[in-house]
Amino acid sequence: MIIKAANKIRSSEITSEDVFLKRRELLQAAGLALGATTAAMLPGAGIAASGDGPEGQKLDGVTAWADSTSEKQTPWAQATSYNNFYELGTDKTDPQKNASRLITEPWSVEVNGECAKPGKYTLEDILKPHALEERVYRLRCVEAWSMVIPWVGFPLSDLLKRFEPNGNARYVQFQTLHDPQRLPGQQYPVLQWPYVEGLRMDEAMHPLTLMAAGMYGRVLPNQSGAPLRLVVPWKYGFKSIKSIVRISFTETQPDTSWNLSAPREYGFYSNVNPTVSHPRWSQAKERRLDGDGKGLAALFAEKQETQMFNGYAEEVAGLYSDLDLTKNF
Ligand code: MTE
Repeated sequence: MIIKAANKIRSSEITSEDVFLKRRELLQAAGLALGATTAAMLPGAGIAASGDGPEGQKLDGVTAWADSTSEKQTPWAQATSYNNFYELGTDKTDPQKNASRLITEPWSVEVNGECAKPGKYTLEDILKPHALEERVYRLRCVEAWSMVIPWVGFPLSDLLKRFEPNGNARYVQFQTLHDPQRLPGQQYPVLQWPYVEGLRMDEAMHPLTLMAAGMYGRVLPNQSGAPLRLVVPWKYGFKSIKSIVRISFTETQPDTSWNLSAPREYGFYSNVNPTVSHPRWSQAKERRLDGDGKGLAALFAEKQETQMFNGYAEEVAGLYSDLDLTKNF
């Protein structure tokens, strides 16, 4: 997606990232636009394929979670150079390029709504009581690619309990920092800013739902959502909101950015479901970004079947036993 002046963006362009990518991939595959720059945008290309190791501050005392997937991990370099973080640009390589704009110190999180302990908490307040765990999760993007990433964090439930949500708290909403200087993509109306996401309370309290502060044993790089982001592994990646500054307990279903932008395409639940197509493409298969297949080869890597709830059905299917998942997509 190319950023244009605000008044020149048509609404039809706003959510057509996938279509744009397909068109670009086709052009590139046909050899029509294969300059150095465009080749570097391909998954698995450029820095992504260099095999560079993790960078940034090391996290100490991280224990390994017993249920991590043993599937081949996405290399650090690929996971940090092929990102969706529209506040840092809409091309996959933009978030890494613009990462230094996001100053994350100091950082605080406002907690409000239906709970006994609302307030403004510093990042240290948030992190301190929690032991860090490494959990290797699959993350499946709505655009039909997926990664396997060793996140470092703690169960979101442990954090939310500290704020003592009351009986009216049926949902929880999360909000990303709103600061067009530090997140320059917010100068363009690609989405309604700030980015917001939400979960039903039982989803938020589910033991798989992670509040991540790191990956690959290091603090989160900015493009990956520093200093705090959600990872909800059974849902499409856009539910895993980055750079969180507000947590609100609500009685009614909260707004979410992609649902506001295109309600027919992005529902509140957005559980990974190979049997329910996106209106513009199938969700049955995905391309795993695991460092294999550099440059153009990555485009032709064989796709694999997408699993129900991204392979976490045993753990989470029970949350949705009363829901028609074709209607509540
Ligand atoms: N959070 C914010 N604030 N802004 C975004 O644009 N993109 C989402 C999600 N969280 C996004 C966000 C999408 S579409 C995906 S797929 C994941 O972040 C990507 O996470 P990754 O770049 O670490 O792989």
